[in-house]
Amino acid sequence: EKAGFDHFMLKEIFEQPKAYRNTMMGRISDDGRSVELKEIGMTAEQIRGIRKVHIVACGTAFHAGLVGKTVIEDLARIPVETDVASEYRYRSPIITPDTLVIVVSQSGETADTLAALREAKRHGARVLAITNVVGSSVAREADDVIITQAGPEIAVASTKAYTSQLIAFYLLGLYLAQNVGTRDEAYVTDVLMAMNELPEQVERILDSADVLKQIAESVAKHNNLFFIGRGVDFAVAQEGSLKLKEISYIHSEAYPAGELKHGTLALIEEDIPVISVITQEGLYEKTLSNIKEVKARGAHVLALVNAGHEEEVGKSVDELFSIPKTLPILAPALSVVPLQLIAYYASLARGNDVDKPRNLAKSVTVE
Ligand code: M6R
Repeated sequence: EKAGFDHFMLKEIFEQPKAYRNTMMGRISDDGRSVELKEIGMTAEQIRGIRKVHIVACGTAFHAGLVGKTVIEDLARIPVETDVASEYRYRSPIITPDTLVIVVSQSGETADTLAALREAKRHGARVLAITNVVGSSVAREADDVIITQAGPEIAVASTKAYTSQLIAFYLLGLYLAQNVGTRDEAYVTDVLMAMNELPEQVERILDSADVLKQIAESVAKHNNLFFIGRGVDFAVAQEGSLKLKEISYIHSEAYPAGELKHGTLALIEEDIPVISVITQEGLYEKTLSNIKEVKARGAHVLALVNAGHEEEVGKSVDELFSIPKTLPILAPALSVVPLQLIAYYASLARGNDVDKPRNLAKSVTVE
């Protein structure tokens, strides 16, 4: 059932183009100009009444929620807070009836996420769930449900569920924007056209798996490393770091690139790998100057960079991996894929049980 792949994780990484297509299928109008989410029962008036959004989740789903925050704020201009479920439920969050609470969970059974959902409902908020499992607890208890069509995910390390959650957030962000009137049809059409290209662009990244294997094998020789980025690149950096820790057992930290000077730079020493995600137009110069700071202290820098910027970034880094060009907001759906492959091959190089990392369970149904 691994379909010729050595591990479920690798199979699931390679299933992402299909998962993107399936998650978009039936949710875009025939003319390609608008998003149709028939599963959402909220009226346009109710959507216009949303004053704030809380996104609540654990682990990788939380990281998808970090991207979701930027997506919803950017597209629909509604303020969003993203929280880890085990923090949210105990911190007395300010939930009002005009708050939309979005819970994100691949399994739909994560104890803390489910408890956060119940807490939100108790305060009269409407709850929308993004989950991969039809009929799961989260799906049953939420008011509205967007099912990610990733198909069953077996490996403990989440890959295609995360990227399908991103697709769900893009669709939802556009849908909210259409209803509140923050974006015109031409803009929505442009984003949808760019989204349509994502599956084929992921295929192109997957074609370069060998290059990433080599990078991973050198990463696997280290016991410490950093991931840096700004904006959604930082959100992706956090997911890349979690993936690597979870299955390779190599310690890493993800940092907003601009925060390095405020303490972390003290840890940069000769030869330490720094993986930097640089996909956001307008932030290139800023992140490049952070790269120069770590390079000056001997770091070995790998940059994930948008096609077209190789030359400019290449001068300041040791290794470069190029990501097909897309809209800045969609970049996470591409830039996370090389990080998943680096984690996979690093785990393999260390001889770990890739699909079943020590101490972890696929679904965390206890608190
Ligand atoms: O099923 P869920 O999406 O609610 O699971 C949440 C986390 O336990 C999960 O994403 C975990 O962080 C993964 N093992 C990460 O790869």
